[in-house]
Amino acid sequence: MSSSLPQHIAIIMDGNGRWAKQRFMPRIAGHRSGVEAARQVVRNCAKRNIKVLSLFAFSSENWRRPAQEVGYLMELFLTGLEREVAMLHEHNIQLRFIGDRTRFSEKLCRKIGEVERLTRNNTGMVLIIAADYGGKWDICQAVTRLAKEIETGHLTSSDITPETISSRLSFADLPDPDLFIRTSGELRISNFMLWQLSYSELYFTNTLWPDFDEAELEKALRHYADRERRFGYSGEQLNELTKDRDREACSNNA
Ligand code: IPE
Ligand code: IPE
Ligand code: MG
Repeated sequence: MSSSLPQHIAIIMDGNGRWAKQRFMPRIAGHRSGVEAARQVVRNCAKRNIKVLSLFAFSSENWRRPAQEVGYLMELFLTGLEREVAMLHEHNIQLRFIGDRTRFSEKLCRKIGEVERLTRNNTGMVLIIAADYGGKWDICQAVTRLAKEIETGHLTSSDITPETISSRLSFADLPDPDLFIRTSGELRISNFMLWQLSYSELYFTNTLWPDFDEAELEKALRHYADRERRFGYSGEQLNELTKDRDREACSNNA
């Protein structure tokens, strides 16, 4: 039940601060190198025809960081967008920001809007930047939308199903992540896509984000290719399903 290449990869890019600390540099230097690693992973995923890449850039909880660090990160988003938009567009990449935008500056919101409009009709990889995103926020906004539809009489409580909730989440039109990657050795989800990760294969590496290069991506993809995704079936059932699928493919080719 697994194609060897994931359609959707979701990454928690963690470890910028520790990377900088190891080099006696300020945390912001780690974030700057983190942007470079993000740039590389975008190129390397697009090269491999990955359909969707989601990068966790700033969590709802990251507002708790010192104001100076938050300000620097916002500045990096803006300059990063200005610098990379041409390259993304040239590579036919569709860029989308997911999260609560209400706390971003007007200038950043305007730039995000511009870039999304410019790349909207691109047909290559979909690049999601999750910024001021939290899985709990996402579920809350979906449930609020459903509640409003019930209030206005368009739905009833019996319409609340996994499908109706899914269709109101931020990533509704995209497949759920097949592969989740977190760098820096932390073994947690940190409020990333809580609903959508329910059947993702999880891959954790001790590598710090600025060091996550093409070889590291390859390693994660190899691990993914070796996994057996069962979705609740037994291993024996899966063998049967695979045989049926192969038989079907043979008769279609005959
Ligand atoms: C990830 O690196 C980047 C963001 C959360 C924005 P960190 O800044 O969390 O790096 P560590 O965990 O302190 O090493
Ligand atoms: C999660 O990393 C968010 C991003 C990478 C953007 P954190 O470094 O903020 O996560 P915790 O707080 O250690 O769980
Ligand atoms: Mg961290």
